[in-house]
Amino acid sequence: MKILVTGGTGFIGSHTVVELIEAGHEPIIVDNLSNSSDKVLDDIQTITGKKPVFYKADIRDKAALEKIFKENAVDAVIHFAGLKAVGESVQIPLEYYHNNITGTLILCDVMRKAGCKTIVFSSSATVYGMNNAVPFKEDMPTSCTNPYGWTKLMLEQILTDLCVSDPEWSVVLLRYFNPIGAHESGLIGENPSGIPNNLFPYIARVAAGILPCLSVFGNDYDTPDGTGVRDYIHVVDLAQGHLKALDYAVANKGAEAINLGTSRGTSVLELVTAFEKASGVKVNYKIAPRRPGDIASCYADTEKAEKLLGWSAKYGIEDMCRHGWAYMNKKNI
Ligand code: NAD
Ligand code: WQD
Repeated sequence: MKILVTGGTGFIGSHTVVELIEAGHEPIIVDNLSNSSDKVLDDIQTITGKKPVFYKADIRDKAALEKIFKENAVDAVIHFAGLKAVGESVQIPLEYYHNNITGTLILCDVMRKAGCKTIVFSSSATVYGMNNAVPFKEDMPTSCTNPYGWTKLMLEQILTDLCVSDPEWSVVLLRYFNPIGAHESGLIGENPSGIPNNLFPYIARVAAGILPCLSVFGNDYDTPDGTGVRDYIHVVDLAQGHLKALDYAVANKGAEAINLGTSRGTSVLELVTAFEKASGVKVNYKIAPRRPGDIASCYADTEKAEKLLGWSAKYGIEDMCRHGWAYMNKKNI
């Protein structure tokens, strides 16, 4: 199938493009390169032997999107494009709402006019909010505490409303837990600019000697070792989940929210230890105050993904650390 991948040069998008090519699909990437580089296209070619079609454009540019749909008979869309930094979204909410929401509205409008009504959307476990008990299940109440999270929740609602209005739409809302790691080739991975907000790239930079010390945000949570517990998922497992979601969307109309996680929780200190083991390098850390807005534990109930998609994660924490470290070394980060 011809699949338009918005945000396809980004972290999760690039890994999904690799899996699409390897499964015989034809991905077409649209990305404005606001948080990625077109150099990743060469890396995708090295891994798969094929260079995907690429349009440098913003999804809010309606004419550019119309041109893409005119030039390509797109069967379905996997929609990653968006801004994703929680803290930044509190500082510049209008940019987040405009980029994520206006961008998706324009995308869906162009899709509708082109007669393409199948979309897999990047949502987030952040929609489970602060008040649910783990493991998080798709039918639990949703809520958010920051503009980034609200864009995901609002877009889940908008895409669901679209399905109610027109039964020809197929929408899969994928709620990702914490994607980390890199492709096993070490050629593509995550390379945030500046000081990382997320734990995994922070640990990797301490191990590489780029940053001096990890601050562990709180060791007095109600968790086995007192540090925050999350459901880390290998980005390649996540990418493969998108292909299963695509098959599901092609075969089923309507909207469905589905968790993509591993159902296993790992604490901050457990991840530090696993990274040390995989890299052979000591990771300096100190205990710091809790980070506002953090919850103690977050991990997925994955039964729905197993049932509807026939998908479950294969990689463990050690693989995620090993592949993430290999990427750092291969790319001289
Ligand atoms: P990323 O920043 O690496 O990829 C997003 C891509 O979208 C980037 O290449 C960026 O240049 C592009 N982009 C942003 N706005 C655009 C626009 N208006 N037009 C065209 N391109 C645009 O992020 P990622 O980690 O790969 O995340 C992909 C999606 O998954 C995002 O929607 C994110 O919110 C969601 N998500 C990510 C995580 C995570 O922890 N990485 C967790 C849950 C959900
Ligand atoms: C993980 C754990 C921290 C950094 C975020 C977004 C979420 C989703 C994924 C997009 C927590 C601790 C972290 C550090 C630390 N993104 N930590 N020191 O907060 O679970 O999720 O990314 O949708 O919406 O909120 O991920 O990697 O920031 O934190 O101790 O320097 O590591 O307190 O327990 P989080 P994270």
